[in-house]
Amino acid sequence: MDREPIGVIGAGYVGLVTAAGFAELGHEVWVREIVPEKVESLGRGEVPIHEPGLPELVRKNAERLHFTTEMGDMLERARLLFVCVDTPPTYSGDADLSRVEAVLSELGDSNEHALVMKSTVPVGTGRSIARRREEIGYVSNPEFLKEGSAVDDFRSPDRVVVGADEDSAEYADRVEALYAPLDAEIVRTDVASAEMIKLASNAFLATKISFINEIANVSEELGADVREVARGMGLDDRIGPKFLQAGVGFGGSCFPKDVQALKQLAGNTGYHFQLLTAVIEVNELQKRRTISKLQKHLGSLAGKEVALLGVAFKPDTDDVREATSLVLAGRLAGEGANVRAYDPVVGERARGMLAGATIAGSALEALDGADAAVLVTEWQEFGELDWTGEVKSRMRVPLVVDGRNYLDREELVAAGFTYEGIGR
Ligand code: UGA
Repeated sequence: MDREPIGVIGAGYVGLVTAAGFAELGHEVWVREIVPEKVESLGRGEVPIHEPGLPELVRKNAERLHFTTEMGDMLERARLLFVCVDTPPTYSGDADLSRVEAVLSELGDSNEHALVMKSTVPVGTGRSIARRREEIGYVSNPEFLKEGSAVDDFRSPDRVVVGADEDSAEYADRVEALYAPLDAEIVRTDVASAEMIKLASNAFLATKISFINEIANVSEELGADVREVARGMGLDDRIGPKFLQAGVGFGGSCFPKDVQALKQLAGNTGYHFQLLTAVIEVNELQKRRTISKLQKHLGSLAGKEVALLGVAFKPDTDDVREATSLVLAGRLAGEGANVRAYDPVVGERARGMLAGATIAGSALEALDGADAAVLVTEWQEFGELDWTGEVKSRMRVPLVVDGRNYLDREELVAAGFTYEGIGR
């Protein structure tokens, strides 16, 4: 069967995974990316981001993947154009839609193309575009990929949301057909509801995290162990076990931005979304709580050597957007501590992002002579360190703040460490 060729605009995490995923399903895919260096390296089969399984998928489907800087190359060959550009937050908290607008301005007056919006946009964006550009089809197809497991998420999505208003129903059918081989549950709806499903899903997951973080903070005072609490709660089908891991707060390019954007959207209509205001505030405080845990044991942090283990906002990605490490490095520097950071994938790129921190070449280098270790990102490598042997002998003070409850507390304590977890 002939598969419909598709276009993908923007070769970031979302764009590349979408492009490679559809190429794997047999589609010819034209990817338009404005950065020429990226196009060149992708053309050579080199993937500029760290995403497990993605380089293999890109190489395997190289024949069907075409990278170009020219919109015209794509418009000629594909009718369904997946928009996968950034919509970063502005200072006001609203989403910056300038890249989406730039795409619109490059489409000319074609009446054969449809935009399939994967970028996260405010509710109402689709209708506003459809009003202004009646000749272009518009389908909302929000993405739910998680960095670090994006390739698997593409292959087996929990659901695929396809939102279209009447005029674009035929394009929506074509988008739905693209996903047929994945055998996923399809949620067919209107554009505004599709846009809201995306924002509400992220806001709900963020709420779950802030909720369990608050339970953790109270558990610390009351002698409960949040991991046990989460286990007991998660077995309730209505609650579920996922996104109940207490930690040093959520980061990344999505939750912080999308929660803020939804709060802002509500605010624009005159509605004060109180719950989300709290979710954001809890997360900001959570990112900073490590400081008092260190002070509890070290007193003033001035001149203290602190090893920050992990810079990425979560493991298996090189993404540092809104990462807790950034906030912590800033706060530690503010307290006069000397920070040595190490991340297995972000590596040297962290230099300059972390206020005044030294970037170590290995975890052991960061830990050498340290007064405290703070585990920020649960990279597997950190679990495999010889904590009770080599690490213990290298640290000046055997103090660990385990920001993800990732290490073996009993083992560390037995070896003479002072251990501070989250909510236990
Ligand atoms: C998130 C959503 O999970 C995806 O469904 C969505 O497509 C994506 O945003 C997006 O909007 O593009 P992502 O930001 O890649 O995906 O990462 P998550 O795995 O959701 O983690 C976000 C943050 O929450 C991380 O900092 C993680 O450490 C933290 N987290 C997650 C916790 O603190 N506790 C948990 O139990 C789970």
